[in-house]
Amino acid sequence: MSISVVYWSGTGNTQAMAEAVVEGIKAAGQEAELLEVGNADAKTVAAVDALALGCPAMGAEVLEESEMEPFVEELESLVSGKKILLFGSYGWGDGEWMRDWADRMKNAGAQLIREEGIIANDAPPEDDVLEELKAAGKELAE
Ligand SMILES: Cc1cc2nc3c(=O)[nH]c(=O)nc-3n(C[C@H](O)[C@H](O)[C@H](O)COP(=O)(O)O)c2cc1C
Repeated sequence: MSISVVYWSGTGNTQAMAEAVVEGIKAAGQEAELLEVGNADAKTVAAVDALALGCPAMGAEVLEESEMEPFVEELESLVSGKKILLFGSYGWGDGEWMRDWADRMKNAGAQLIREEGIIANDAPPEDDVLEELKAAGKELAE
């Protein structure tokens, strides 16, 4: 089974979340490829069996615009039926960026393994969020 975890992180919070997802995947006995979005190619990534995508809330409740947004836009035409986990860190908002992102991926036909994504309002993410990310990583690998 091939699984990729692709993320953008400016100050490391979403990266810590990505690492927890990878831990969960490994705990389920699978390998995961951890990639910064700047090193990821959408077509290659879309060919995996399962996918986790991480990005914090940026701009005004949007995805990071120079790398993550164009990557996600390209993925939208490639992920119908694909098992996907969304996650990310945020600051002062109410999670709107993740609601919008989850809707987008559902409209693209993705099968989200957490309907509303996993969001963390702390730096670094609290232990219970990290545990939830590990559990979701395990599910992604099943
Ligand atoms: C340029 C910029 C824009 C941001 N916009 C939002 C926002 O719209 N809503 C929000 O809740 N947090 C916003 N934040 C806060 C980040 O989402 C938060 O600091 C997050 O933990 C960063 O994750 P990272 O360490 O993975 O980069 C913004 C931060 C920056 C630097």
